[in-house]
Amino acid sequence: MGVIKSLFPSRGRVLPAPVEPGEVLAETEDLGIRLGGRDVLSGVRVAARAGEVLALVGPNGAGKSTLLAALAADLAADTGTVRLRGRPADDWPAAELALHRAVLPQSAQLSFPFPVEDVVRMGRAPWAGTPLEDEDDAAVAAALEATETAAFTSRPFSALSGGERARVSLARVLAQRTPLILLDEPTAALDLRHQELVLRVCRERAAAGDAVVVVLHDLGLAAAYADRVTVLHDGAVAAEGPPAEVFDEQLLSRVYRQPVEVLPHPRTGAVLVFPKRPA
Ligand SMILES: Nc1ncnc2c1ncn2[C@@H]1O[C@H](COP(=O)(O)OP(=O)(O)OP(=O)(O)O)[C@@H](O)[C@H]1O
Ligand SMILES: [Mg+2]
Repeated sequence: MGVIKSLFPSRGRVLPAPVEPGEVLAETEDLGIRLGGRDVLSGVRVAARAGEVLALVGPNGAGKSTLLAALAADLAADTGTVRLRGRPADDWPAAELALHRAVLPQSAQLSFPFPVEDVVRMGRAPWAGTPLEDEDDAAVAAALEATETAAFTSRPFSALSGGERARVSLARVLAQRTPLILLDEPTAALDLRHQELVLRVCRERAAAGDAVVVVLHDLGLAAAYADRVTVLHDGAVAAEGPPAEVFDEQLLSRVYRQPVEVLPHPRTGAVLVFPKRPA
């Protein structure tokens, strides 16, 4: 762990100020990003607020992962602005950034040759040398429990199944205990139970005052758990708002180039989205 800790020198570090309820923890305005000579995002405006789960949805290639990377200050804007807590993304030292936001990348193919517990503990590296280092053990234990991964702490990460790895990777992100949590398709490899578990954890973190941004392909999950949804289409925002407003049959059918039906759940009234299939 010594090498990892040394990446985050503690001297001169500014610990994050307490987050206000509803505070915007990351936002983009008129964001444009070009990759490989193409406009991958243009004119994108989003805001991640403390206390809210924001879902990013849209077809493959729409720009969801690119937007998440911009919100994480991992990818620079070509046009427009990205701000974290009101401060320009390129103005954040890496060590302070790691105390503000934690990122779960899409399909974490990393094959750490370490025991699961060490992988989760890596999430605590940014806090080394700060007073919050005292929370390391509790944060790791809570993250293992929240993701139902405590049973494999001593197993090598590389010997886990795809879904188990995804949950351990999420545990590492949760253990980081940052007020801004950015998750790229955290449920893609998960079974039904663990998809629900992960979205419940997102809700709990939001209820505790964090801002959660989660990329999802399952529109039913987004409808059930997100406060707001941003639909991306060809690098632009096609719709934004509460799921019940945004999940419109015409809009989704156009964006996904697939006719869909939007129905209320017969018992709960929650929005359900289905591809239209012949009877
Ligand atoms: N490094 C790169 N160079 C060139 N093009 C890129 C690069 N990274 C991404 N792109 C392109 O940018 C577009 C948006 O990619 P992005 O990964 O953000 O999509 P996404 O919405 O996350 O899709 P998916 O649902 O498949 O994960 C895609 O067309 C992709 O091919
Ligand atoms: Mg993606």
